[in-house]
Amino acid sequence: MTATAPETLDLQRAAREHLWLHFTRMGGDGEVPIIVRGDGCYLEDSKGKRYLDALAGLFSVNIGYGYGAEIGEAAAAQMRELPFYTNWGYAHPRAIELASEVASLTPGDLNRLFFVSGGSEAVESAWKLARQYFTARGDGRRWKAISRHVAYHGTTMGALSINGIPELRNPFEPLVPEVLHVRNTNRYHRPSDETEEQFTAFLLDDLEQTINATGAETVAMVIMEPVQNAGGSFTPPEGYWKGVRDICDRYGILLCADEVICGFGRVGAWFGSERYDIKPDLMTIAKGLSSSYAAIGAVVASDRVMEPFMRDTNMYAHGITFGGHPVMSAIALKNIEIMKRDKIVEHVADTQDTFKKTLSQLLDLPIVGDVRGTGFFYAVELVKDKETRESFNDEECETLLRRFLSPRLFERGLICRADDRGDPVIQISPPLIAGQHEFDQIVSILGDVLSEAWTRVADLEGAPDGATHRVNR
Ligand SMILES: Cc1ncc(COP(=O)(O)O)c(C=O)c1O
Repeated sequence: MTATAPETLDLQRAAREHLWLHFTRMGGDGEVPIIVRGDGCYLEDSKGKRYLDALAGLFSVNIGYGYGAEIGEAAAAQMRELPFYTNWGYAHPRAIELASEVASLTPGDLNRLFFVSGGSEAVESAWKLARQYFTARGDGRRWKAISRHVAYHGTTMGALSINGIPELRNPFEPLVPEVLHVRNTNRYHRPSDETEEQFTAFLLDDLEQTINATGAETVAMVIMEPVQNAGGSFTPPEGYWKGVRDICDRYGILLCADEVICGFGRVGAWFGSERYDIKPDLMTIAKGLSSSYAAIGAVVASDRVMEPFMRDTNMYAHGITFGGHPVMSAIALKNIEIMKRDKIVEHVADTQDTFKKTLSQLLDLPIVGDVRGTGFFYAVELVKDKETRESFNDEECETLLRRFLSPRLFERGLICRADDRGDPVIQISPPLIAGQHEFDQIVSILGDVLSEAWTRVADLEGAPDGATHRVNR
């Protein structure tokens, strides 16, 4: 096929002919949304229309879109000095500096970084590391992982197997054996007379029973997000993390905090592990590490996990060409420098209460059952009946969320996510530089669109016009 010069390329047509979008229905004749630039919390498409990105480019552009020039300079300087080298048996200054910098921010003795290219690779690497940790210690073989229902941990085969979302897992069965799933911390659909203490005990009992039923001596790792994203910002009840830590200690299982979203300020602290005093043995990080200006992630290991790999000829038998890429590392270092200089994490801690108060106005709407979350990490759960908390069924979700809400919000200039991987929720997770103006704009647009959605609930049989909008899952 003859190539077209970039300046004469019809982007819309070329996108439809050549680009394969992730988690997107590629059929139909809907337009491909083409985003061409960003500044602050805002994006602009190829027609000059502006959007408030209340999802921070998939929970990840923590510093917003306005630091490209400054970060670009750091990247260019690194390109001139050393555009690439690996971490396979070699080190280079930026990977060393980044490892030290992150180790200084992580709580406890999480002091060792193994760099990868993103979140799925971090989760994949954490599971492999946990498996090898037990053999390196000479403690027999442990291979199983435990995660939570509805949780999302990535898409590579290992990370996918850890996911607790059946519709993402099913097309790829058989998956990597063996992962067990336990209850998540969704309290909205629990009995109304259950106390927080009882809820915590119920969850911990489920975890412990699952471990006992499968055989504790076969379980390598429990992996959970400090606040679970999929299903809609499930925060932990009081005593939950202390209980999970105690159970892992009791059965000698490694605890991994998947901080791919929660890390780097999203929950009002540098890490969710700090905010909830989780004390994990392993931590997975990506997205916010570079505010997604670079494709970089890492597994952070505690001194205890590192210890057997420092013995004799032991080696973690794993590697990725781009792990610790010097240009990616330089970008991540600059991102952290900016986050510290511009007090991004402090801003979240200072404004999270007003964000919550502003979002809580949505509870006045008949379709909004719950507004939950923390920091700049929220979800609005949609219900058919506020009294009974009855949810929408699959067909209604398709009509309401995918065919109406997602395209209408986009049309109104608000990017957030209508998600029904669990109960139907709208996820709100803006860049960490957002302020009252953005909070108000989110509530104003969401309020209008959700009110409109409610009028359609009565007549969910007929799909509205515009049903061909492409859908991201
Ligand atoms: C908690 C969590 N873990 C892992 C991943 C996978 O990250 P990536 O998409 O960078 O592979 C994600 C992505 O959203 C995530 O939210």
